[in-house]
Amino acid sequence: MKTSIAIYPGSFDPVTNGHLDLIERGEKMFDRLIVAVLQNTDKQPLFSVPERVDMLREVTRIWPAVEVEVFEGLLVDYARRRGAGVILRGIRAVSDYEYELQMALMNRMLEPRLETMFMLPGETYSYLSSKLVREIAQHGGPLNGLVPAAVERKLRAKLSKVKP
Ligand code: PNS
Repeated sequence: MKTSIAIYPGSFDPVTNGHLDLIERGEKMFDRLIVAVLQNTDKQPLFSVPERVDMLREVTRIWPAVEVEVFEGLLVDYARRRGAGVILRGIRAVSDYEYELQMALMNRMLEPRLETMFMLPGETYSYLSSKLVREIAQHGGPLNGLVPAAVERKLRAKLSKVKP
C-alpha cells in the first residue's frame, strides 16, 4: 500500500494560526505530514530554529500524523531523503502566487517526481503573516486570533528581552 508523506516547509518565525489552519487541512489528506523548518543562514530571524521547532511541536501535538523537523540545503534533497512525494504550500492571495509558482516549477525541474500542492487557508487568515505578527508584537499590539496563546507568550517574553 502507498504511504503518502507530505512536507510543509517554511520559516515559521513564528508559527501563526494561518500555518495551523493549513496543517490541520493537510494532516487530513496525508498519512504523514512533516512540518519542516528551514535552517536558513541568510535571514535574521526573531526566534532561533530550536525555539521555532519547540513552538511548532507544542501547537501540533494534537495531531499524531504531524512531525516537526529541521532541514537545510535544497528542499528537493530533503524530500527525497524523507521519502516524501508532495510539498504542501499555502496560497493566501494572488500576491503569493508568483513566488510560489516560481518555487514550485523550479522544484519540479530539480525533481520531477515531487509534486507541489497548494491549499487555501481559511479566509480569516488571508492577510496574516509571521512578518506582520512580529511587527504587531514589537509595537505591543493585540495578537488574539493571530497566533496560538503559547506563541503569543513566547513572543511577549522574547520581545521584553530584546527591548533596551
Ligand atoms: O516560509 P517561507 O520563508 O516562505 O519558506 C520558504 C522555503 C523554506 C519553502 C524555501 O525557501 C525553501 O524551500 N528553501 C530551501 C532551499 C531550496 O530548496 N531552494 C530552492 C527552492 S526553488
